[in-house]
Amino acid sequence: MRKQIAAANWKMNLTVQQAETLVTDIIAAGVELKPNQEAVFGVPFPYITSVQKKLSGKKNMNIAAQNCYSKVCGAYTGEVSAEMLKSIGVPYVIIGHSERREYFKESNAELAEKVIICFEFGLKPIFCCGEDLAIREQGTQNDFVETQLKESLFHLTPQQMTGFVIAYEPIWAIGTGKTASSAQAQEIHAHIRSVLATQFGQDVADSISILYGGSVKAGNAKEIFGQPDVDGGLVGGASLVATDFATIISSLK
Ligand code: 13P
Repeated sequence: MRKQIAAANWKMNLTVQQAETLVTDIIAAGVELKPNQEAVFGVPFPYITSVQKKLSGKKNMNIAAQNCYSKVCGAYTGEVSAEMLKSIGVPYVIIGHSERREYFKESNAELAEKVIICFEFGLKPIFCCGEDLAIREQGTQNDFVETQLKESLFHLTPQQMTGFVIAYEPIWAIGTGKTASSAQAQEIHAHIRSVLATQFGQDVADSISILYGGSVKAGNAKEIFGQPDVDGGLVGGASLVATDFATIISSLK
């Protein structure tokens, strides 16, 4: 059975004190994760080590970085490499979030390099895709997302794609309070899985966790996660509130 994942993306928020309190409160909420479920905390780089300590020994709770660079090492002032993340024990890294695509001009081609670097150093990418409002209104979201997948992931082998994690995040639903309906989420998640099945085979596609992101809240998580091709969520705003994120974790299938 593929993994069901509640992933927090804290983005550029919180002080370290607030971060530690948040994680402490989420743990104190006592959510029980089943063997097929995982909670992942996508924290800012400077907090990785302190949050990691809080999560130590907690079953199925893991850290993610929010980004890494597309080069192995060298004169890239201010960047953080996949190897550095691996060396401090980070298992996951969010790759290609729409905010990085928009503000930092990350292209599908650059993201293709990043996922390869992740594999080289044993990090698991959480690969983000999703369309903006203009594309949704034209009704071409399926083609748009298919191109993102083709250009950034189709150079990978079926073995590399087994157990991979994708986050579908429609840009028009991020931070807007306007979530995709559960039917809209299911439709495009099923499309993503069929695109992956054509390229990598049905068994591989069935092993890939496809998370939904965009205004996931404590009150809508259960319905969205209940869709057959939605395997959890990548959560921004609501992951900054301990009780909300605890509820979201307990909404996993
Ligand atoms: P919100 O949950 O705040 O809409 O953010 C979604 C997101 O971008 C997660 O990566």
